[in-house]
Amino acid sequence: MSVIIVVGAQWGDEGKGKIVDFLTEKADLVARYQGGNNAGHTVVIKDEKYVLHLIPSGILHEGKACVIGNGVVIDPAALIEEMDGLASRGVETKGTLFISKSAHVIMPYHVAVDRAAEDLKGAKKIGTTGRGIGPAYTDKAARHGVRVMDMLNPDSLREKVTQNLVTANFLLENLYKVSPLDPHQIVQSYTGYAERLKPYIADTGIMINSAIEAKKNVLLEGAQGTLLDIDHGTYPFVTSSNTVAGGACTGAGIAPTKIDRIIGVVKAYTTRVGSGPFPTEIPGELGERIRERGGEYGATTGRPRRCGWLDIVGLRHAIRVNGFTGLALTKLDILDGIEKIKICVGYKYGGTVIEEFPKELEALDGCEPVYEEVKGWIESTVGITKFEHLPADARKYVRRIEKLLKTRMHIISTGQKRDEIIVLKEQF
Ligand code: GDP
Ligand code: IMO
Ligand code: MG
Repeated sequence: MSVIIVVGAQWGDEGKGKIVDFLTEKADLVARYQGGNNAGHTVVIKDEKYVLHLIPSGILHEGKACVIGNGVVIDPAALIEEMDGLASRGVETKGTLFISKSAHVIMPYHVAVDRAAEDLKGAKKIGTTGRGIGPAYTDKAARHGVRVMDMLNPDSLREKVTQNLVTANFLLENLYKVSPLDPHQIVQSYTGYAERLKPYIADTGIMINSAIEAKKNVLLEGAQGTLLDIDHGTYPFVTSSNTVAGGACTGAGIAPTKIDRIIGVVKAYTTRVGSGPFPTEIPGELGERIRERGGEYGATTGRPRRCGWLDIVGLRHAIRVNGFTGLALTKLDILDGIEKIKICVGYKYGGTVIEEFPKELEALDGCEPVYEEVKGWIESTVGITKFEHLPADARKYVRRIEKLLKTRMHIISTGQKRDEIIVLKEQF
C-alpha cells in the first residue's frame, strides 16, 4: 500500500495526465486536490484522446474511485459537461466519481470578475484561463465562499448568492463596466446542478483516509505546476492555489505522515501559457518548431504555449519545495532531431551567476540564462519502452539531468499513448 503525489515541476502541462493515467493501473483511488477547470490533463489511449479538466485522470480505468477533493474549486456546469462528455464516450462516472462536500464552488460572478479584471489590467494581465479560479479562491479565503454542501440547501444558497452579489455586481457595474448578474437565475441553475450532482457528493476526506487505513494504493493528482504555486511560483503570474506537494495534504484532507512518495513530472523542455517571466524561453523558429512538434497548445484554452529549454534552476527549486522522491520525464521524443540541446544551469544577474531560483520578478525578468550545451540525437525515440533502447545521446541527456538535479528518473515518457513509457522504478 502506498500514497503517492504526482506534481508538475514546471509551469504546468508537463504531462501529469499521462503519468497519472499510467500509475492508475495499480491504484485504487485517485484524487485531485487543488485547482479547478483551469487544468487540462490529456490522456491518450490507443487513438482516443481525452482531456480532463476537473475529473481525475484515473477515470479512464474502470472501477477506480475518483475523488475531487476539498481543495479543488468546482464549476458545476463544467463538471456536468465533462461527466456527460465522458458518458457519451462510454466512460461512466456513476459510482466511481466522488465530489467533496467541502470543496468551494465557482459561481458565474467569479468567471465574470476573472475576465473583467484581466481586461482591465490590459498589458499587465496574468493571462488567466478565465475560468473564475482566482475569484473563487478569493472568496474562500475571505470566508464568504459557497461550498458544495451549500448548494444542496436552496435557502442557504440563496442567502449566500444574494449577499455575494451585492459586492460582485457593484464591481461588475461600476468598476469593470459590464452587466450585473441576476441572483434568481443563479440560484435556479445551481439548484438544478445540485440535484444532478447530489449522488456524487461525499465526505471525501473520510473516504481517502479509510482507503489509506484499508491499505489501498492512493494517487493524488496535482494540477498546474510548482512555478504556478501561489506561494512558491512566479508571483503574481501564478494560479491561486498551492500546487505543490504540501497542497495535496490540505486539499485532500490527509496528514503529511501518510505520504509515501512524491513524483515530480518534468517535461524534457519547458513551456508556459499566459504571461510572466520565462528565462529559458526560445525565441523564433526553434521555439516554434518545438511548439508544433510537441503540440504545445493549451488543452483548456487552445492558446499557443511558450516554449523554452530545460531550466535546472527552476527544477532545483521545485525539488526543494516538493521533496520529490523521483522524477517522471515526459516528451523526450519531442527533442528527437534537434542537433544541440541546451540545459540552463544558472542565471546571470547583476554581475553574478545565481543558482537559486530568485523570488524577485525583476531578477527573473532581467536574468540571462547560463547554458550547458549537449549533443542531441537524430534517431526517433517515439514509443521506446526500454532505457537501453534509447539513443546513446538521449540516455546521456537523461543522466545529465539526474546528475544536475541529484534526483533519480523513475519514469520516462516517449509518446502520448499509455504504453509509450519507460519504467525505471515501479511506484506502487
Ligand atoms: P498536463 O496538464 O500536465 O496533464 O499536460 P497536458 O495534457 O496539458 O499537456 C501534455 C501534452 O503532451 C498532452 O497532449 C499529452 O498527450 C502529451 N504528452 C504527454 N507525454 C508525452 C510524451 O512523452 N510524448 C509526447 N509526444 N507527448 C506527450
Ligand atoms: P494543467 O493542470 C498551464 C496558468 C494560466 C495563467 C495562470 C493563472 O493543465 O497543468 P488561472 O486561470 O489559474 O487563474 O490562471 O496559470 N494555468 C496553467 N498553465 N497548465 C495549467 O494546468 C494551468 N492552469 C492555469 O495560463 O498563466
Ligand atoms: Mg494541461
